[in-house]
Amino acid sequence: MRTQETTTRDYPGYFITFEGTEGSGKSTQVKLLAKALEEAGKTCFLTREPGGPPISEAIRSILLNPQTPEMLPETELLLYMASRSQHTGQWILPALNQAKIVISDRYNDSTIAYQGAARNLNQRFISTLAKFATFHTTPDLTILIDLPVEEGLKRIQNRTLDRLELESIRFHRKVRSQYLSIAKKQPHRYLVIDGQKSPQQIHEIIKNSVFALIGV
Ligand code: TMP
Repeated sequence: MRTQETTTRDYPGYFITFEGTEGSGKSTQVKLLAKALEEAGKTCFLTREPGGPPISEAIRSILLNPQTPEMLPETELLLYMASRSQHTGQWILPALNQAKIVISDRYNDSTIAYQGAARNLNQRFISTLAKFATFHTTPDLTILIDLPVEEGLKRIQNRTLDRLELESIRFHRKVRSQYLSIAKKQPHRYLVIDGQKSPQQIHEIIKNSVFALIGV
């Protein structure tokens, strides 16, 4: 039987996650960080959630399909966790064991913010489920790019919106305030950055913090 008592940090790699509301600019920053790390001679493994390996990508397309507004919050939570479990076991942990710097666009805190705060599901239960689904894998550093939700939604208005992006402003405000509350409770793990700064300014802050973490 696979043990659920695996402790964190028993691998040589580093695990960095990005979080933020819609349109916060995470994806741009993930790419800039990976480029800076590769230039410094480090090996990165870039990934995203929901998604990653084929099973998790298949779950992503179910989750984000705007044609299924009938999806129940409980179904949504379990699908995010199923996607994450496969992703962590098949991709993230092996990469960490190979001493890579794993950078994921979203991870557990998205579930606490979106399904916990915004969908109003029990956050303690979500945390327990997350430990089970991820084999107790937690990020070494989480970067929150914080932005007023109106500003972020304005930035993505010309895209085809997915099922979650189509939610109300009220929903997205709950997500934002939950992120800020998690960051406040876990300052040792969190770096909160003002998403209204320029992409280059944001990148410099992230780069300094990540390079300090991994000792570049
Ligand atoms: P993306 O737009 O950053 O690719 O993320 C897909 C959407 O899924 C985004 O609206 C946030 C949402 N999401 C959750 O609701 N719960 C989760 O656990 C994750 C990882 C994402």
